[in-house]
Amino acid sequence: MALPLDVTALRRHFPGLLRAHGDRTAVFFDGPAGSQVPRSVADAMSQYLLLDNANHGGAFSTSRNTDAMVANARAATADFVGSDDPEEIVFGANMTTLTFHLARQLARTWRAGEEIVVTDSDHDANVMPWVLAARDAGCQVQRIAVRPDSTLDLDDAARKIGPRTRLVAVGLASNLSGTIHPVARIAELARARGALTFVDAVHYAPHGRLQVRELGCDFLSCSAYKFFGPHVGVLWGRRVLLEETAADKVRPSPNHGAEKWQTGTANFEGIAGTLAAIDYLTMVGRNVGAPVGASRAMALDAAFAAIEAHERELAGALLAGLTAIPGMRIVGLTDPHRLAERCPTVSFVPKHPTPDELAQRLAAEQVHCWPGNSYAIALSTALGLEPNGVLRLGLLHYNTREEVERVVALLRRLCA
Ligand SMILES: Cc1ncc(COP(=O)(O)O)c(C=O)c1O
Repeated sequence: MALPLDVTALRRHFPGLLRAHGDRTAVFFDGPAGSQVPRSVADAMSQYLLLDNANHGGAFSTSRNTDAMVANARAATADFVGSDDPEEIVFGANMTTLTFHLARQLARTWRAGEEIVVTDSDHDANVMPWVLAARDAGCQVQRIAVRPDSTLDLDDAARKIGPRTRLVAVGLASNLSGTIHPVARIAELARARGALTFVDAVHYAPHGRLQVRELGCDFLSCSAYKFFGPHVGVLWGRRVLLEETAADKVRPSPNHGAEKWQTGTANFEGIAGTLAAIDYLTMVGRNVGAPVGASRAMALDAAFAAIEAHERELAGALLAGLTAIPGMRIVGLTDPHRLAERCPTVSFVPKHPTPDELAQRLAAEQVHCWPGNSYAIALSTALGLEPNGVLRLGLLHYNTREEVERVVALLRRLCA
């Protein structure tokens, strides 16, 4: 059982959270578009650039240090996603670019008449790479429907995943509704049909523990800038698949291992920052009572147990506050008994003003948040939210109950 998070102490690691305008401190409810960063992450990046900056694979000290840092970052990221094999970790520009790259390579093995399955709940970065690759390979695309409460329709998934399915692309949690999807069940359906499962864990990664083996998926992607790191994308793939799938690359670069998938020179300072972000989360785990001598993976278990508990409390308070405002349409699960099925990402449509106007008024009150569809265009369309979309309040573990109360009080006034 983890101790509660000491949020006051943790906030001190994030200089960005001190932003204020006059006597009003900023409220960062824009986490799903990118989190704030602990000082240790920026320090690791600047230290890398100032002291160890080099290309990798050389005999001299800075190059060796770069190799060692990348190896450490791969090992840490493998722990972060729940793998025990650092060679399963590929770093890249961002999730979208990595997914387009992977989709193109996998599609070479697809044949006309075969099928790819995407969902109506996903961010477009987990839809279009597959749709375009399917188009080029002459494959059909099936879409798993969402129910009006924003959960994925598992009966529809069982219908759509069939003998011709080659790959199912599904998000671990929606960046619009916050709903957590039953990915292990979907991966099981895919496996039973001989299909691969690709998981977009970008939204979920700062909120809960990733466990690729338990999910039973084949690929999983996330982005360090959503979990307190810099703008770096991460792709995890089962080693045998990364090895046996041909990847477009230049001739001198390695033919094996994760490096085969990394085109061009890597963003080494970003990789150093990604390692520091995972170190930060490991420190959180040790502070909430991971046993002395516990491995990094165990410390991450403890960190996310404490983060989930804190975030559920915030989500409960935010949902209760919003539900009490007349005319609010909240997207996604609102039942206080179902908080374990959602992230603390709460989207809503007020009776007035429009989400865009509301975001501007909140910005004037130093509340950082996003209006629109957040690129979850299929979900926004399926739930009848286009063209204005929603106002999204995305919370992270560094947010507080006081911030929730302040924003709810503002909304009561601005949406009256
Ligand atoms: C759920 C989800 N998937 C994918 C992406 C795209 O990630 P990236 O910016 O790393 O390409 C985002 C970005 O907001 C996202 O929220």
